[in-house]
Formats: sequence, structure tokens, C-alpha cells
Amino acid sequence: MRNADTECWAMSRMRTIEWKDGRVITIDQSKLPDRTVFLEMQNCHEVASAIKEMKMRGAPLLGAAAAYGLALSAYHSKAKNASDLMNGVEKSAETLRKTRPTAVNLFWAIDRVMQKARKATGDVKAIVKVIVDEAERIANEDVEANHRIGEHGAKLIQQGDVILTHCNAGSLATVDYGTALGVIRAAWKQGKGVKVFATETRPKLQGSRLTVYELQQEGIPVTLITDNMVGYVMSKGLVNKVVVGADRIVRDAVINKIGTYTIAVVAHEHRVPFYVAAPTSTFDLSSSANEVVIENRNPEEVTSFMARRVAPNGAEALNPAFDVTPMRYVTAVIAETGVLSTTEFERPTTT
Ligand code: MRU
Repeated sequence: MRNADTECWAMSRMRTIEWKDGRVITIDQSKLPDRTVFLEMQNCHEVASAIKEMKMRGAPLLGAAAAYGLALSAYHSKAKNASDLMNGVEKSAETLRKTRPTAVNLFWAIDRVMQKARKATGDVKAIVKVIVDEAERIANEDVEANHRIGEHGAKLIQQGDVILTHCNAGSLATVDYGTALGVIRAAWKQGKGVKVFATETRPKLQGSRLTVYELQQEGIPVTLITDNMVGYVMSKGLVNKVVVGADRIVRDAVINKIGTYTIAVVAHEHRVPFYVAAPTSTFDLSSSANEVVIENRNPEEVTSFMARRVAPNGAEALNPAFDVTPMRYVTAVIAETGVLSTTEFERPTTT
């Protein structure tokens, strides 16, 4: 893996992840906002470790990264025949499946690429091309979907609305443009003069480090709040809408960054519309909430802050990375196919 320290990512206008002649380039989000470090990955193990260490994070980005991880495995394979090639790629798929358990996009992308690869005919070169092309297709579709989510979502936003968002569901969490931040970007571009409250999103601070960074780069007014200020800003009537992303949308609930459920309940109490913006690659409608594996991460992420211990030595801590918001708290889901009311929630057919 090669790191390149360089100028501001936002100015580079590079996609969050790109395929370049057998290398996958992305930005190390664990270094943002202070340092812009590009990661150049050459094999699926480097992709897997970047996912586990959250140098890359955000459900749609994990999907594209997993697909590109399989493309690297195929592209650099020394296999002389199709079955040896596929054996290697199947092993890489297993490696990538073991990285993080909750965001369904990762598994959706691996299954999609593997299905294509298993059906592919021809020699090694032909199958490698099928795998690389499918990964590129997944990335391009994600960008297209986010722009459509932005368009559909912006119709729900009124002039001057103040929108609260949680974690980072922006360009950095996707291949580009973002889901929840895609809605905010589209409304801003339509001259709706929106303002944003961004929660800091402990313990990994995706809100303060990444969401504020992205919105500042676009000149969209944003105010940072700590996660425990949500009740305060809602009780003061300072928030008109909530728009968040999702890691998995099941029949009866939305799974997203820890803290989302609390925001949904407070929004319900104050009759603030609560929208979830997510591509259909995040839908897992054959499952229900009690079947979803919630990732539990190292408690040190809670007992320390920016690698400095803040709790007494030996302190116990919980660190579930996601929580479950029952559908009754969700006003609507904004997907690339349109705005879906949760009552008749079913997997949308592509229009
Ligand atoms: O742990 P993370 O940073 O990967 O969690 C990300 C989130 O919860 C996002 O809200 C979600 O993935 C949607 S990203 C468009």
C-alpha cells in the first residue's frame, strides 16, 4: 500500500475511490480533515485492512471497495487457467466478507461480482475483464444513484430549511456525491438556502471530521453539535428536517450509525420529519432487524479520544457501531427510484 500526502482532496475533485491500471486509489479518511493522504492499494488484503481500520468507511463505499478488491485479486492473479483464477478470487471474497458485518452493500457487491464471474466464459483474461468491468459498473451506478437520491430528496426540502444529519453520508461514504449529503447538496444547488446541523458522531467523529469538512468545502452553512445536543436543538425548534444515511434497510427497520435511533425518537417527539436517504443496494428486505449483526468495535475507541486515553485505566466501555430505528419513526426512505413511504415499503422495481 502506498500513501501520498497531498493537497486538499475536495479540490482534487477525485472520486472517493478509483480504479487506475490495476491499482485502487482512495483517500485515508482516518487522517481527515487535517491531512489528505491518498492510499494506493494493489491487492484485496490491503483493501480489507483499509476497511477494518476505517480508512474507508460508509456503506456504499464499502460496496465499491469490496468490488474493486475482487478486481485487484483477479487482475494481479498469476493463474494460468480459469478455475485457478476463480479459486483465488473466491478466497479474496471470503477475506472481504470478514471485514465488517453490518453494511449490506459490502455483501451485495461481492455477491454481484462473484455471480458475474462464475457465469463468465473464456480464458483468464476474459474473466478478469468481466470482474474489473463489473466493479467499475457498481461504482458508476453508485454515483448515478446518489445524484437521483439528491433530486428526489431535494423536493422534500423547503426554502431555508435547517437540516440535521448524523455521521457522514456524503461523498466520502460513497463513490461520490453522497446520499444524505446528496439531498443537502441538491437542495443547496437549487438555491433553497439550507443550513445544516452536523452531529459530531462519537466515537469516530465522522460528523465533525468528515461531514463538516465536506460541507465547508461546498460553502454550505454547517453548525457542529455534540451528539447529546440533539434534544436541545429540537426542543428549541431549530431543526426542520432530519436526513441520515443507512447501512442496511430491512423490512421493519433502518440500521445506521449508533445514535440514529435516539435522533429518530427525539424527532418523533418534536414532529420533525425523519428521512433516510439510501440506494437500493442498501436494501435487505428479506431480513428483519433481529437478524442483523451489529458490529461491536474495540472499546478503546470509546475510552480514548484521538488515541489519548480519556477514561480511567481499566474502564469498561460498550462500542456498538450501529443501532436499529424501527420503521414507525421513519417518515420516508429516499432511494434512487423515488421517495418511498415506509407503510407500503417494498423493494422498488427499477423505473
Ligand atoms: O462506521 P461507518 O462510518 O462506516 O458508518 C457509516 C454510516 O453509518 C453511514 O451513515 C452509512 O454508512 C450511510 S453512508 C452513505
